Amino acid sequence: MNRTRRLRKSENIRRLVRENRLTVDDLIYPLFIEEGTNIETEIVSMPGIKRYSLDRISKELDEVVTLKIPAVLLFGIPSNKDEIGSETWNDQGIIQETVRFIKKNYPALYVITDVCFCEFTNHGHCGVIHDNDVDNDATLPNIAKQVISHAKAGADMVAPSGMMDGMIYTIRQALDNTGFENIPIMSYAVKYCSAYYGPFRDAADSAPTFGDRRTYQMDPANRDEALREATFDDQEGADILMVKPALSYLDIIRDLKNNFDRPIACYNVSGEYAMIKAAGEKGWIDEDRVMMESLLSMKRAGADIIITYFAKDVAKVLLQSSK
Ligand code: PBG
Ligand code: ZN
Repeated sequence: MNRTRRLRKSENIRRLVRENRLTVDDLIYPLFIEEGTNIETEIVSMPGIKRYSLDRISKELDEVVTLKIPAVLLFGIPSNKDEIGSETWNDQGIIQETVRFIKKNYPALYVITDVCFCEFTNHGHCGVIHDNDVDNDATLPNIAKQVISHAKAGADMVAPSGMMDGMIYTIRQALDNTGFENIPIMSYAVKYCSAYYGPFRDAADSAPTFGDRRTYQMDPANRDEALREATFDDQEGADILMVKPALSYLDIIRDLKNNFDRPIACYNVSGEYAMIKAAGEKGWIDEDRVMMESLLSMKRAGADIIITYFAKDVAKVLLQSSK
């Protein structure tokens, strides 16, 4: 008789036939940096995650480095917002200062910058507004300015998240023309218009003041369109393709893994984090086990890289289990 249970008999044989593993090498940890001093604000809907000013960020970075998390993804909260988000290309802006600070004090840490406008515009949309909608082509030159400013500050990689058509082409050209041809692009290639971003928008102060993001982010009902989005970004020169959110979109992660010869990343977003933390706090689930199982499912779906607020928690669980 065929007996699949033979290979489940003990932990040693289970280890030998295990197909996927979550490791600290897979993880990118997002950070929220707010302009100002002496800021360390808890984000209510994201327990354990805080907004820091630059003068208070060191203990967080020390921990990231000690835990051997390879990379951080930076989100900035500026003091000054305007119509177009011009603060994003200020060479002395909050992201630029943070990149310089990290590269100087933590040279081994890999620094990725989120490239968008929603935290920097007074309307909270991801670009320039014309006729009550984000104007794609008017936004592209501003994306180029932002990316060059991040590159000059020393960013190791840029991660455009605005879902503008042609953004990858624009960024690749901009970087190549300014001597930054070795900076890779991780594209938020397939980013859905998702309610799971709720806690993030509180954290980053980036909720739109009117309308929503349906004219630029993808419809959650669509699967084939994800291949179209990823194909364009692949052709335009994205080095890494990302799917976001992760948990409700595991089918899309697998589609990209099967169709593209590029590393695939997924973003385990704020709402996914908040749900597990909340149920864990209530004692309704085993938080660590549900966390590990969720992130493992992303690996199994095909993700090579996971961006997650759980990065430190995962690293600690892995250290514990390797003892
Ligand atoms: C916007 C952006 C969003 C996230 C990162 N950058 C979402 C949005 O507001 O559309 C979401 C991250 C999260 O929820 O964890 N450029
Ligand atoms: Zn945005």
